[in-house]
Amino acid sequence: MAIFEVESGAPLMGEAVVHPAKNAVLPIIAASLLTKDTILVPEMPDLSDVRALCGLVQECGGVCQRQGAGMALSTPEPTLPEASHMMRWTRASVLIMGPLLARLGSARITMPGGCAIGQRPIDLHLKGMAALGAEIVTRQGFVELKGRLHGGVIYLDLPSVGATENIMMAAVLAEGVTRIENAAKEPEIADLAQCLNAMGAQVQGAGSGSIVIRGVRSLHGATHQPIPDRIEAGTFCCAVAVAGGNILVRGARPEHMRALLFKLQEAGMSISEFPGGLRVRGKAQWPMEIRTLSYPGFPTDLQAPMMIVACIAQGTSVFLETIFENRFMHIPELLRMGANIRVEDHVAVIEGGYPLQGASVSCPDLRSGAALILAGLAAEGVTRVEDPQGHIDRGYENFEHALTAMGAQVRRL
Ligand code: EPZ
Repeated sequence: MAIFEVESGAPLMGEAVVHPAKNAVLPIIAASLLTKDTILVPEMPDLSDVRALCGLVQECGGVCQRQGAGMALSTPEPTLPEASHMMRWTRASVLIMGPLLARLGSARITMPGGCAIGQRPIDLHLKGMAALGAEIVTRQGFVELKGRLHGGVIYLDLPSVGATENIMMAAVLAEGVTRIENAAKEPEIADLAQCLNAMGAQVQGAGSGSIVIRGVRSLHGATHQPIPDRIEAGTFCCAVAVAGGNILVRGARPEHMRALLFKLQEAGMSISEFPGGLRVRGKAQWPMEIRTLSYPGFPTDLQAPMMIVACIAQGTSVFLETIFENRFMHIPELLRMGANIRVEDHVAVIEGGYPLQGASVSCPDLRSGAALILAGLAAEGVTRVEDPQGHIDRGYENFEHALTAMGAQVRRL
């Protein structure tokens, strides 16, 4: 449970430090089930999604030991998680399927209910496991898989990030060669492949739409530092566009953020890049057209923060959400703050330049919650963001500290 109180104030100045990426470390935590040796992650972000997945991996015989800023992970003896002990479903829980099947020859996961942003089925994950030889039974809300895995060819109808990761992790110990076509190209996929190859796997082509994995007999330990969080970095960039200012986003990788950076420049921001990160200056001026797509298109996880930028800019902006079916839940809350937004199905039309008024708003999901805090940075009066489910702490480490370090007025009650 968290409540954030936000007030608008001076433009943001100083710097924001980017943490290792949530969506890179979660598959790596799952990958630790693939070996009895130790995977060392020198810096591991402190997020509730990380703690939840570590809890589930420990139910599977894994050991996840915090070591300073990092974590040592290993699974000497993998076991199936007790059905009754299955952690509260987090989407990332599905990622234990591939590694358990590869290491143990069987796996069990809870059938995912939907979540706030959409139904989020796992049909493509299961299509991949079946192609590798797994027998799949769904009963009493669980999915149980078993079989000795062999190579196969899988075409993903959608370039699903999780399915690509799960199939890669299943294939690394399968007998023979596996090919994934129409694979997701997100940077976190290439990062996972780099970690798996450091563990002795043979994965080629990660980051392109076609990935080839040659199965090996076993994997060993490795040290791997995951990539910085392009969504956290992008959220900081949107905060500057909303509140105005001049911020150094330390540790960001601009090459992972091209879609966002171009769109912020079109909105009138000035962006300069350098080896250690990037600098964002100015305040949103011009409207934008945003269409969320799989990487390298505009990331769906930054659609909500970017919509606040559109509220600040002058003119009419148009947003099309193509990835999830219900990812506009920040909009009713923004309307209560005086925003002028019309929604038709997956399209939102934002009339920018209407002053936002502080209000009490509720946080419907992780990225919408962060976006509502950004809205408070530009609203007249106090904005109270109620986050009873702790969504924001799932994906942002000390979000309010990062903002107050830049001069924002944000308090966690
Ligand atoms: C990952 O989720 C990220 N999560 C999400 O970030 C991100 O929004 C998403 O990729 C898209 O980039 C993690 O990496 C832990 P998908 P994932 O499978 O793997 C449909 C955040 O805020 N689909 O690429 O679940 C699905 O319903 C989170 O950090 C199927 O139809 O996303 C969705 O509409 C939110 N069948 C679309 O594909 C399947 O078998 C994209 O889903 C799998 C997915």
